[in-house]
Amino acid sequence: MLYKFYQQRVFPHLLNQVMQTPSLMQGRAELLSKVRGDVLEIGFGTGLNLPFYQEVEQIYALEPNRDVYDLAKKRVLEAPFHVQHIQASAEKLPFADNSVDSIVSTWTLCSIAELDKALQEIHRVLKPNGILHLIEHVQYQDNKLLKKLQDVLTPVQKVIADGCHLNRNIELELLNANFKFSEKYYFDAEDLPKVGRRMFMARAQKVEMTV
Ligand SMILES: C[S@@+](CC[C@H](N)C(=O)[O-])C[C@H]1O[C@@H](n2cnc3c(N)ncnc32)[C@H](O)[C@@H]1O
Repeated sequence: MLYKFYQQRVFPHLLNQVMQTPSLMQGRAELLSKVRGDVLEIGFGTGLNLPFYQEVEQIYALEPNRDVYDLAKKRVLEAPFHVQHIQASAEKLPFADNSVDSIVSTWTLCSIAELDKALQEIHRVLKPNGILHLIEHVQYQDNKLLKKLQDVLTPVQKVIADGCHLNRNIELELLNANFKFSEKYYFDAEDLPKVGRRMFMARAQKVEMTV
C-alpha cells in the first residue's frame, strides 16, 4: 500500500523533476531539432520534449502510466501542434505496419519490461524511410567497475524508478532488432550520478528483412 502511494503520488513528481536536469534538457534540444512529420513518442512521460519540437505535424503521446501523463497535461495544452494521448505499452503498438514517419524515445527504452518485443513493434510501425530518434542512459562498456555496479544496482533501481534498468546495452539491442544507424554517439552527463551518466544518442532506420 505504501509502495502504491509512492508509485502513484510521489514517483511521477520525482520523475518530472529529475528529467529536467540541465544536461538532459540539452540532449532533448539536440535530438528533437531534427524530428519531422507525424511523431510517435514512446514513454511520453510528463511532456518535457514538447517545447523542443520544431517541424512536427502531430504527436502521438504513448504513455501507459496515467499518473505520469496527468503531469503532462498543462504542457500538452500549451503545445502549438496537436498531441494525442495513447494509453498503451510499447510492446503492443496500436498502429498499422509502416505508418509512422518518426519515433522518439528519450530515456524510455531503459524502462520497457519486454524490450525485444517493443523494438519489434517499433520496427513494424516505422515507415521504411522513417527514423527512430533516441537518447538513452546505458551500461558502460569501457569501465568494468561501473559496469558491474550498474548490474548490482539495477534490481534496486527497478523498484524505486518504475522498472528502469541501469545496465542495458541499447546500441546492441537495436542492432539485434535489425536497425542501422545514420548517426550515433556516446557522452557522459556530468550533472548525474556516475551509474546513470553514460548516454547514447542515435538516429536509426530499419533494415528491411527479406524472406
Ligand atoms: C524515465 S521515464 C522518461 C519519460 C520521458 N520520455 C522523458 O524523456 O522525460 C520512462 C517512461 O517510460 C514509460 N514506460 C514504462 N514502460 C513502458 C512501456 N512498456 N511502454 C511505453 N512506455 C513505458 C514510463 O511510464 C515513463 O513515462
